Amino acid sequence: MIHPEMEKVLNDQLNAELYASHLYLAMSAYFEAENLRGFAHWMRLQSKEEAEHAMKFFDFINDRDGRVTLQSLAEPPRDFGSCLDAMNASLEHERKVTGMIENLYRTAQQHSDYPSHVFLEWFVEEQVEEEKAAQDIIDDLTLIGDDKAGLLIIDGKLADRS
Ligand code: FEO
Repeated sequence: MIHPEMEKVLNDQLNAELYASHLYLAMSAYFEAENLRGFAHWMRLQSKEEAEHAMKFFDFINDRDGRVTLQSLAEPPRDFGSCLDAMNASLEHERKVTGMIENLYRTAQQHSDYPSHVFLEWFVEEQVEEEKAAQDIIDDLTLIGDDKAGLLIIDGKLADRS
């Protein structure tokens, strides 16, 4: 049986992953409206990945004989200012999620909850990837500045994500 505090923080993380999925879907809609179809595609897949992360928490809570408690989702923004602003918002959100995962990890340590430890290790590694992916796109966008041709090249590259 899982400790009630662990159950609570795992449910909070389930909600945060669902919100991330919601946020990235809003970003995908924004990129569609901006005719940046590669960015829109990339974000749509990112949204799908976050929903999968949420389901990992859903399954883990159930497997540990805990109770999944769904919470309401905050409304994501509709506009993100610019392509670079949207990607910066994405990186900022990933850093927030990294902090939450680290807090979860610490709580698992406090309760000597070894199964949660092992479960969370995948997320610790995943966050390194997630932050890097957002940072790489930001670096490319910074490099091209206001060059529209450069933006189309990045957009084409992101369209290839499978
Ligand atoms: Fe599931 Fe991008 O954190």
